[in-house]
Amino acid sequence: MKLWGGRFRGRRDPQFENFSESFSLDQRFVLYDLRVNFAYVNALGKARVLKPPEVRRLAAGLEALCRKVQRNPRWARGQAAEDVHTWVERELERRVGDVARKLRTGRSRNDLVATETRLYVKDATLELERALAELLAALLGQARRHLQVVLPGYTHLQPAQPILFSHYLLAYFEMFDRDVGRLKDCCARADELPMGAGALAGTAFPVNRERLARELGFARVARNSLDATSERDAVTELLFACALCMVHLSRWAEDLIIYSSPGFGYVELADAYSTGSSLMPQKKNPDSLELIRGRAGTLLGKLTGMLAVMKGLPLAYNRDLQEDKDALFAGVDATLGALTMAARVTATLRLHPKRMKAMTQQGFLMATDLADELVRRGVPFAEAHEQVGKLVRHCAAEGKTFQGLSAGEATKFVPAWDAKLQAVAVSPERSVARRDVIGGTAPRQVARQIARAERTVAELRRKLPRAG
Ligand code: ARG
Repeated sequence: MKLWGGRFRGRRDPQFENFSESFSLDQRFVLYDLRVNFAYVNALGKARVLKPPEVRRLAAGLEALCRKVQRNPRWARGQAAEDVHTWVERELERRVGDVARKLRTGRSRNDLVATETRLYVKDATLELERALAELLAALLGQARRHLQVVLPGYTHLQPAQPILFSHYLLAYFEMFDRDVGRLKDCCARADELPMGAGALAGTAFPVNRERLARELGFARVARNSLDATSERDAVTELLFACALCMVHLSRWAEDLIIYSSPGFGYVELADAYSTGSSLMPQKKNPDSLELIRGRAGTLLGKLTGMLAVMKGLPLAYNRDLQEDKDALFAGVDATLGALTMAARVTATLRLHPKRMKAMTQQGFLMATDLADELVRRGVPFAEAHEQVGKLVRHCAAEGKTFQGLSAGEATKFVPAWDAKLQAVAVSPERSVARRDVIGGTAPRQVARQIARAERTVAELRRKLPRAG
Protein backbone atom coordinates (compact mmCIF):
# COMPACT_ATOMS: atom_id res chain seq x y z
CA MET A 1 0.00 0.00 0.00
CA LYS A 2 1.10 3.53 -0.88
CA LEU A 3 -0.30 6.81 0.34
CA TRP A 4 0.37 8.39 -3.07
CA GLY A 5 -0.38 5.86 -5.83
CA GLY A 6 -2.70 7.84 -8.18
CA ARG A 7 -0.16 9.81 -10.09
CA PHE A 8 2.07 6.87 -10.87
CA ARG A 9 2.08 4.00 -13.31
CA GLY A 10 3.71 0.69 -12.56
CA ARG A 11 5.61 -0.28 -9.46
CA ARG A 12 8.56 1.27 -7.76
CA ASP A 13 11.83 -0.62 -8.25
CA PRO A 14 12.03 -2.93 -5.20
CA GLN A 15 15.61 -1.79 -4.73
CA PHE A 16 14.32 1.76 -4.39
CA GLU A 17 11.57 0.62 -2.01
CA ASN A 18 14.24 -0.88 0.14
CA PHE A 19 16.48 2.12 -0.21
CA SER A 20 13.84 4.58 0.87
CA GLU A 21 11.87 2.78 3.57
CA SER A 22 12.04 4.14 7.09
CA PHE A 23 9.73 1.66 8.82
CA SER A 24 12.70 -0.28 10.17
CA LEU A 25 13.60 2.82 12.20
CA ASP A 26 10.45 4.87 12.67
CA GLN A 27 8.44 1.89 13.94
CA ARG A 28 9.66 3.20 17.28
CA PHE A 29 7.20 6.06 16.77
CA VAL A 30 4.18 3.78 16.49
CA LEU A 31 2.53 4.77 19.77
CA TYR A 32 3.13 8.45 19.05
CA ASP A 33 1.64 7.98 15.57
CA LEU A 34 -1.48 6.37 17.03
CA ARG A 35 -1.79 9.03 19.72
CA VAL A 36 -1.41 11.94 17.29
CA ASN A 37 -3.85 10.38 14.84
CA PHE A 38 -6.34 9.82 17.64
CA ALA A 39 -6.19 13.45 18.73
CA TYR A 40 -6.28 14.65 15.13
CA VAL A 41 -9.34 12.57 14.25
CA ASN A 42 -11.14 14.10 17.22
CA ALA A 43 -10.07 17.55 16.07
CA LEU A 44 -11.51 16.81 12.61
CA GLY A 45 -14.73 15.77 14.33
CA LYS A 46 -14.92 18.98 16.33
CA ALA A 47 -14.27 20.91 13.13
CA ARG A 48 -17.24 19.02 11.58
CA VAL A 49 -15.01 17.64 8.85
CA LEU A 50 -15.78 14.12 10.05
CA LYS A 51 -19.20 12.97 11.26
CA PRO A 52 -19.49 11.69 14.85
CA PRO A 53 -19.91 8.03 13.82
CA GLU A 54 -16.82 8.32 11.60
CA VAL A 55 -14.83 9.78 14.46
CA ARG A 56 -16.03 7.00 16.77
CA ARG A 57 -15.10 4.29 14.31
CA LEU A 58 -11.67 5.70 13.55
CA ALA A 59 -10.95 6.36 17.22
CA ALA A 60 -12.00 2.84 18.18
CA GLY A 61 -9.79 1.41 15.43
CA LEU A 62 -6.80 3.46 16.58
CA GLU A 63 -7.37 2.43 20.19
CA ALA A 64 -7.57 -1.23 19.22
CA LEU A 65 -4.33 -0.92 17.27
CA CYS A 66 -2.75 0.76 20.23
CA ARG A 67 -3.73 -2.11 22.53
CA LYS A 68 -2.41 -4.62 20.02
CA VAL A 69 0.95 -2.89 19.81
CA GLN A 70 1.22 -2.48 23.57
CA ARG A 71 0.34 -6.10 24.19
CA ASN A 72 2.92 -7.43 21.79
CA PRO A 73 6.40 -5.93 21.93
CA ARG A 74 7.25 -7.85 18.77
CA TRP A 75 4.33 -6.39 16.80
CA ALA A 76 6.62 -5.22 13.97
CA ARG A 77 8.15 -8.63 13.29
CA GLY A 78 7.70 -9.67 9.68
CA GLN A 79 5.95 -6.38 8.87
CA ALA A 80 7.01 -4.12 6.04
CA ALA A 81 5.85 -0.64 5.03
CA GLU A 82 7.24 2.55 3.55
CA ASP A 83 7.10 4.09 7.01
CA VAL A 84 5.22 3.79 10.27
CA HIS A 85 2.57 6.27 9.12
CA THR A 86 1.78 4.09 6.12
CA TRP A 87 1.69 1.00 8.32
CA VAL A 88 -0.81 2.59 10.72
CA GLU A 89 -3.11 3.73 7.95
CA ARG A 90 -3.02 0.29 6.32
CA GLU A 91 -3.73 -1.53 9.56
CA LEU A 92 -6.51 0.89 10.39
CA GLU A 93 -8.12 0.30 7.01
CA ARG A 94 -7.98 -3.43 7.68
CA ARG A 95 -9.83 -2.94 10.92
CA VAL A 96 -12.35 -0.23 10.17
CA GLY A 97 -12.64 -0.34 6.37
CA ASP A 98 -13.08 2.57 4.01
CA VAL A 99 -13.54 5.23 6.65
CA ALA A 100 -9.81 4.91 7.30
CA ARG A 101 -9.33 6.65 3.96
CA LYS A 102 -10.51 9.84 5.67
CA LEU A 103 -7.76 9.67 8.26
CA ARG A 104 -5.29 11.95 6.55
CA THR A 105 -7.75 14.69 5.65
CA GLY A 106 -5.91 18.00 5.76
CA ARG A 107 -2.75 16.56 7.20
CA SER A 108 0.51 15.34 5.74
CA ARG A 109 3.18 12.98 6.90
CA ASN A 110 5.27 16.11 7.09
CA ASP A 111 3.40 17.64 10.03
CA LEU A 112 2.74 14.17 11.42
CA VAL A 113 6.36 13.05 11.55
CA ALA A 114 7.46 16.45 12.88
CA THR A 115 4.91 16.13 15.70
CA GLU A 116 5.95 12.59 16.58
CA THR A 117 9.60 13.56 16.53
CA ARG A 118 8.94 16.33 19.03
CA LEU A 119 6.97 14.01 21.29
CA TYR A 120 9.88 11.58 21.17
CA VAL A 121 12.42 14.33 21.84
CA LYS A 122 10.46 15.51 24.89
CA ASP A 123 10.23 11.99 26.33
CA ALA A 124 13.88 11.29 25.55
CA THR A 125 15.03 14.40 27.42
CA LEU A 126 13.17 13.19 30.50
CA GLU A 127 14.67 9.73 30.25
CA LEU A 128 18.14 11.21 29.84
CA GLU A 129 17.59 13.49 32.83
CA ARG A 130 16.60 10.47 34.90
CA ALA A 131 19.77 8.65 33.90
CA LEU A 132 21.81 11.76 34.65
CA ALA A 133 20.18 12.04 38.07
CA GLU A 134 21.40 8.52 38.87
CA LEU A 135 24.93 9.37 37.79
CA LEU A 136 24.85 12.56 39.85
CA ALA A 137 23.69 10.53 42.85
CA ALA A 138 26.53 8.04 42.37
CA LEU A 139 29.16 10.80 42.12
CA LEU A 140 27.71 12.46 45.20
CA GLY A 141 27.66 9.18 47.13
CA GLN A 142 31.37 8.59 46.48
CA ALA A 143 32.21 12.21 47.27
CA ARG A 144 30.41 11.91 50.60
CA ARG A 145 32.08 8.61 51.48
CA HIS A 146 35.56 9.89 50.65
CA LEU A 147 35.31 13.52 51.59
CA GLN A 148 38.82 13.74 53.07
CA VAL A 149 40.78 11.57 50.63
CA VAL A 150 43.57 13.55 48.97
CA LEU A 151 44.27 13.03 45.28
CA PRO A 152 47.18 14.45 43.28
CA GLY A 153 45.65 17.05 40.99
CA TYR A 154 47.05 17.34 37.48
CA THR A 155 47.45 19.91 34.77
CA HIS A 156 48.98 18.75 31.48
CA LEU A 157 48.72 15.33 33.15
CA GLN A 158 51.74 16.40 35.24
CA PRO A 159 51.40 16.36 39.04
CA ALA A 160 50.25 19.85 40.08
CA GLN A 161 48.64 20.41 43.50
CA PRO A 162 46.81 18.21 45.98
CA ILE A 163 43.02 18.23 45.74
CA LEU A 164 40.32 16.30 47.54
CA PHE A 165 39.06 13.28 45.63
CA SER A 166 35.56 14.49 46.49
CA HIS A 167 36.36 17.84 44.89
CA TYR A 168 37.50 16.00 41.78
CA LEU A 169 34.24 14.03 41.61
CA LEU A 170 32.19 17.15 42.12
CA ALA A 171 33.84 18.77 39.11
CA TYR A 172 32.06 16.16 37.01
CA PHE A 173 28.92 16.70 39.06
CA GLU A 174 28.92 20.31 37.84
CA MET A 175 29.32 19.27 34.19
CA PHE A 176 26.55 16.70 34.35
CA ASP A 177 24.33 19.10 36.23
CA ARG A 178 24.72 21.57 33.34
CA ASP A 179 23.89 18.72 30.96
CA VAL A 180 20.61 18.35 32.82
CA GLY A 181 20.00 22.07 32.32
CA ARG A 182 20.71 21.77 28.60
CA LEU A 183 18.22 18.92 28.28
CA LYS A 184 15.58 20.97 30.06
CA ASP A 185 16.18 23.90 27.69
CA CYS A 186 16.06 21.57 24.75
CA CYS A 187 12.77 20.07 25.93
CA ALA A 188 11.25 23.51 26.48
CA ARG A 189 12.14 24.63 22.96
CA ALA A 190 10.87 21.40 21.39
CA ASP A 191 7.57 21.81 23.19
CA GLU A 192 5.46 23.10 20.31
CA LEU A 193 2.90 21.46 18.07
CA PRO A 194 3.62 21.09 14.32
CA MET A 195 0.30 19.28 13.57
CA GLY A 196 -1.99 21.49 11.52
CA ALA A 197 0.91 22.75 9.45
CA GLY A 198 -0.10 20.32 6.68
CA ALA A 199 2.54 19.53 4.09
CA LEU A 200 3.97 23.05 4.31
CA ALA A 201 1.33 25.79 4.09
CA GLY A 202 -1.08 24.99 6.92
CA THR A 203 -4.19 22.84 6.80
CA ALA A 204 -7.23 24.05 4.88
CA PHE A 205 -9.64 22.62 7.48
CA PRO A 206 -10.61 24.56 10.60
CA VAL A 207 -8.69 22.42 13.05
CA ASN A 208 -8.33 23.97 16.51
CA ARG A 209 -4.59 23.72 16.92
CA GLU A 210 -4.58 25.24 20.40
CA ARG A 211 -6.82 22.48 21.66
CA LEU A 212 -4.87 19.85 19.76
CA ALA A 213 -1.69 21.12 21.39
CA ARG A 214 -3.24 20.81 24.85
CA GLU A 215 -4.48 17.30 24.13
CA LEU A 216 -1.07 16.14 22.99
CA GLY A 217 0.66 17.81 25.91
CA PHE A 218 2.43 20.58 23.98
CA ALA A 219 3.01 23.93 25.64
CA ARG A 220 2.15 25.89 22.49
CA VAL A 221 1.47 25.76 18.76
CA ALA A 222 4.29 26.16 16.22
CA ARG A 223 3.80 29.63 14.76
CA ASN A 224 5.03 28.97 11.21
CA SER A 225 4.00 25.98 9.14
CA LEU A 226 7.13 25.99 6.95
CA ASP A 227 9.41 26.05 9.95
CA ALA A 228 7.33 23.44 11.74
CA THR A 229 7.54 20.89 8.93
CA SER A 230 11.05 21.46 7.67
CA GLU A 231 13.35 22.34 10.53
CA ARG A 232 14.82 19.78 12.90
CA ASP A 233 16.42 22.01 15.56
CA ALA A 234 14.84 19.87 18.22
CA VAL A 235 16.74 16.85 16.93
CA THR A 236 20.01 18.64 16.32
CA GLU A 237 19.90 20.34 19.68
CA LEU A 238 19.16 17.14 21.55
CA LEU A 239 22.00 15.47 19.67
CA PHE A 240 24.28 18.30 20.72
CA ALA A 241 23.18 17.95 24.35
CA CYS A 242 23.88 14.20 24.07
CA ALA A 243 27.22 14.75 22.36
CA LEU A 244 28.41 17.21 24.99
CA CYS A 245 27.25 14.93 27.77
CA MET A 246 29.18 12.10 26.10
CA VAL A 247 32.24 14.32 25.87
CA HIS A 248 31.98 14.85 29.63
CA LEU A 249 31.56 11.12 30.15
CA SER A 250 34.51 10.46 27.90
CA ARG A 251 36.84 12.75 29.86
CA TRP A 252 35.73 11.10 33.09
CA ALA A 253 36.31 7.67 31.51
CA GLU A 254 39.76 8.72 30.34
CA ASP A 255 40.67 9.91 33.85
CA LEU A 256 39.64 6.63 35.40
CA ILE A 257 41.39 4.60 32.71
CA ILE A 258 44.59 6.45 33.64
CA TYR A 259 43.99 6.36 37.39
CA SER A 260 43.27 2.63 37.32
CA SER A 261 46.42 1.78 35.39
CA PRO A 262 48.94 0.16 37.78
CA GLY A 263 51.43 3.00 37.26
CA PHE A 264 48.92 5.23 39.00
CA GLY A 265 46.81 2.72 40.93
CA TYR A 266 44.56 5.34 42.51
CA VAL A 267 41.32 3.54 41.78
CA GLU A 268 40.15 0.07 40.88
CA LEU A 269 37.12 -0.82 38.82
CA ALA A 270 34.78 -3.49 40.10
CA ASP A 271 35.30 -6.82 38.37
CA ALA A 272 31.74 -6.59 37.11
CA TYR A 273 32.73 -3.74 34.77
CA SER A 274 36.13 -5.06 33.66
CA THR A 275 37.27 -7.73 31.27
CA GLY A 276 40.29 -9.98 30.92
CA SER A 277 42.56 -11.00 28.09
CA SER A 278 42.26 -14.25 26.18
CA LEU A 279 46.04 -14.43 26.10
CA MET A 280 47.49 -12.60 29.13
CA PRO A 281 46.18 -14.08 32.35
CA GLN A 282 47.08 -11.08 34.53
CA LYS A 283 45.07 -8.51 32.59
CA LYS A 284 42.19 -6.50 33.99
CA ASN A 285 40.95 -4.08 31.37
CA PRO A 286 38.57 -1.13 31.85
CA ASP A 287 36.47 -1.94 28.76
CA SER A 288 33.34 -0.32 30.19
CA LEU A 289 35.16 3.01 30.24
CA GLU A 290 36.79 2.51 26.86
CA LEU A 291 33.42 1.84 25.25
CA ILE A 292 32.02 5.03 26.74
CA ARG A 293 35.00 6.94 25.35
CA GLY A 294 34.63 5.25 21.95
CA ARG A 295 30.90 5.84 21.71
CA ALA A 296 31.42 9.50 22.46
CA GLY A 297 33.46 9.54 19.25
CA THR A 298 30.79 7.96 17.08
CA LEU A 299 28.14 10.23 18.57
CA LEU A 300 30.10 13.33 17.61
CA GLY A 301 29.92 11.96 14.08
CA LYS A 302 26.13 11.67 14.29
CA LEU A 303 25.83 15.30 15.39
CA THR A 304 28.10 16.46 12.58
CA GLY A 305 26.14 14.32 10.15
CA MET A 306 22.85 15.88 11.22
CA LEU A 307 24.21 19.40 10.84
CA ALA A 308 25.50 18.49 7.39
CA VAL A 309 22.11 17.06 6.37
CA MET A 310 20.42 20.34 7.28
CA LYS A 311 22.85 22.86 5.88
CA GLY A 312 21.83 22.77 2.23
CA LEU A 313 18.11 22.07 2.45
CA PRO A 314 15.78 24.49 0.67
CA LEU A 315 12.51 25.13 2.51
CA ALA A 316 10.31 23.31 3.21
CA TYR A 317 10.24 19.50 3.69
CA ASN A 318 12.79 17.37 1.87
CA ARG A 319 13.19 13.64 2.18
CA ASP A 320 16.72 14.15 3.47
CA LEU A 321 15.00 14.92 6.78
CA GLN A 322 14.18 11.25 7.17
CA GLU A 323 17.86 10.73 8.00
CA ASP A 324 17.29 12.46 11.34
CA LYS A 325 15.94 9.27 12.90
CA ASP A 326 19.10 7.24 12.63
CA ALA A 327 21.12 10.01 14.26
CA LEU A 328 18.48 10.72 16.88
CA PHE A 329 17.89 7.15 18.03
CA ALA A 330 21.57 6.25 17.92
CA GLY A 331 22.45 9.37 19.89
CA VAL A 332 19.84 8.93 22.59
CA ASP A 333 20.44 5.19 22.96
CA ALA A 334 24.20 5.57 23.20
CA THR A 335 23.95 8.34 25.77
CA LEU A 336 21.42 6.49 27.91
CA GLY A 337 23.56 3.37 27.85
CA ALA A 338 26.72 5.25 28.71
CA LEU A 339 25.09 7.18 31.54
CA THR A 340 23.74 4.02 33.14
CA MET A 341 27.12 2.35 32.87
CA ALA A 342 28.92 5.38 34.25
CA ALA A 343 26.63 5.50 37.29
CA ARG A 344 27.34 1.86 38.06
CA VAL A 345 31.08 2.10 37.54
CA THR A 346 31.16 5.15 39.81
CA ALA A 347 29.09 3.58 42.56
CA THR A 348 31.29 0.48 42.66
CA LEU A 349 34.68 2.16 42.28
CA ARG A 350 37.33 1.29 44.92
CA LEU A 351 39.86 3.90 45.96
CA HIS A 352 43.48 3.50 47.05
CA PRO A 353 44.11 6.64 49.12
CA LYS A 354 47.63 5.56 50.09
CA ARG A 355 48.74 5.50 46.47
CA MET A 356 47.25 8.91 45.89
CA LYS A 357 48.98 10.32 48.94
CA ALA A 358 52.33 8.79 47.99
CA MET A 359 52.18 10.56 44.63
CA THR A 360 51.63 13.92 46.34
CA GLN A 361 55.14 13.42 47.84
CA GLN A 362 56.77 11.98 44.76
CA GLY A 363 55.46 14.73 42.52
CA PHE A 364 56.42 17.61 44.88
CA LEU A 365 52.80 18.70 44.93
CA MET A 366 53.28 21.00 47.92
CA ALA A 367 55.89 23.13 46.11
CA THR A 368 53.38 25.95 45.61
CA ASP A 369 52.51 25.81 49.31
CA LEU A 370 56.18 26.30 50.17
CA ALA A 371 56.39 29.35 47.94
CA ASP A 372 53.13 30.67 49.41
CA GLU A 373 54.47 30.25 52.93
CA LEU A 374 57.58 32.25 52.00
CA VAL A 375 55.30 34.94 50.55
CA ARG A 376 53.50 35.13 53.89
CA ARG A 377 56.90 35.87 55.42
CA GLY A 378 57.47 38.76 53.05
CA VAL A 379 59.47 37.11 50.23
CA PRO A 380 58.25 38.32 46.79
CA PHE A 381 56.46 35.46 45.02
CA ALA A 382 58.83 35.43 42.03
CA GLU A 383 61.78 34.95 44.34
CA ALA A 384 60.02 32.31 46.42
CA HIS A 385 59.13 30.49 43.18
CA GLU A 386 62.80 30.55 42.13
CA GLN A 387 64.05 29.23 45.49
CA VAL A 388 61.56 26.37 45.64
CA GLY A 389 62.17 25.55 41.97
CA LYS A 390 65.86 25.10 42.67
CA LEU A 391 65.09 22.96 45.70
CA VAL A 392 62.87 20.70 43.58
CA ARG A 393 65.56 20.45 40.93
CA HIS A 394 68.06 19.36 43.57
CA CYS A 395 65.68 16.76 45.05
CA ALA A 396 64.82 15.36 41.62
CA ALA A 397 68.50 15.02 40.75
CA GLU A 398 69.18 13.26 44.06
CA GLY A 399 66.12 11.04 43.74
CA LYS A 400 64.58 12.45 46.91
CA THR A 401 61.25 13.87 47.96
CA PHE A 402 60.76 16.77 50.38
CA GLN A 403 60.34 14.09 53.05
CA GLY A 404 63.92 12.86 52.74
CA LEU A 405 65.43 16.32 52.89
CA SER A 406 67.78 17.42 55.68
CA ALA A 407 67.52 20.97 57.03
CA GLY A 408 71.12 21.66 56.00
CA GLU A 409 70.44 20.71 52.40
CA ALA A 410 67.22 22.68 52.19
CA THR A 411 68.74 25.87 53.58
CA LYS A 412 71.14 26.01 50.62
CA PHE A 413 68.19 26.72 48.33
CA VAL A 414 65.63 28.17 50.73
CA PRO A 415 67.55 30.23 53.30
CA ALA A 416 64.49 30.64 55.57
CA TRP A 417 63.99 26.85 55.84
CA ASP A 418 62.64 25.77 59.26
CA ALA A 419 60.35 23.21 60.88
CA LYS A 420 57.21 25.00 59.72
CA LEU A 421 58.34 24.99 56.08
CA GLN A 422 59.31 21.35 56.41
CA ALA A 423 55.80 20.57 57.68
CA VAL A 424 54.20 22.52 54.83
CA ALA A 425 56.35 20.68 52.29
CA VAL A 426 55.09 17.23 53.28
CA SER A 427 51.46 17.83 54.19
CA PRO A 428 48.91 17.57 51.39
CA GLU A 429 46.18 17.96 54.03
CA ARG A 430 47.50 21.40 54.97
CA SER A 431 47.69 22.30 51.30
CA VAL A 432 44.04 21.53 50.59
CA ALA A 433 42.88 23.16 53.85
CA ARG A 434 44.53 26.41 52.75
CA ARG A 435 42.38 26.61 49.63
CA ASP A 436 39.42 27.85 51.54
CA VAL A 437 37.69 30.06 48.98
CA ILE A 438 34.33 29.41 47.36
CA GLY A 439 34.94 26.65 44.81
CA GLY A 440 38.28 25.74 46.39
CA THR A 441 39.31 22.27 47.49
CA ALA A 442 39.37 22.87 51.28
CA PRO A 443 37.21 20.29 53.12
CA ARG A 444 34.95 23.05 54.42
CA GLN A 445 34.27 24.29 50.87
CA VAL A 446 33.81 20.81 49.47
CA ALA A 447 31.31 20.10 52.26
CA ARG A 448 29.38 23.12 51.01
CA GLN A 449 29.48 21.74 47.45
CA ILE A 450 28.19 18.43 48.77
CA ALA A 451 25.32 20.08 50.61
CA ARG A 452 24.33 21.91 47.44
CA ALA A 453 24.71 18.73 45.37
CA GLU A 454 22.43 16.90 47.79
CA ARG A 455 19.72 19.48 47.22
CA THR A 456 20.18 19.21 43.45
CA VAL A 457 19.82 15.43 43.42
CA ALA A 458 16.82 15.46 45.79
CA GLU A 459 15.12 18.10 43.66
CA LEU A 460 15.76 16.19 40.43
CA ARG A 461 14.45 12.94 41.85
CA ARG A 462 11.35 14.69 43.14
CA LYS A 463 10.60 16.44 39.85
CA LEU A 464 11.28 13.60 37.44
CA PRO A 465 8.32 11.28 37.29
CA ARG A 466 9.41 7.63 37.22
CA ALA A 467 9.62 5.98 33.82
CA GLY A 468 6.54 4.03 32.87
N1 ARG B 1 9.36 8.80 6.45
C1 ARG B 1 9.27 10.20 6.22
C2 ARG B 1 10.25 10.97 7.14
O1 ARG B 1 10.61 10.43 8.09
C3 ARG B 1 7.88 10.67 6.50
C4 ARG B 1 7.53 11.92 5.76
C5 ARG B 1 7.44 11.65 4.31
N2 ARG B 1 7.00 12.81 3.60
C6 ARG B 1 7.13 12.95 2.30
N3 ARG B 1 6.71 14.06 1.80
N4 ARG B 1 7.65 12.02 1.56
O2 ARG B 1 10.62 12.08 6.86
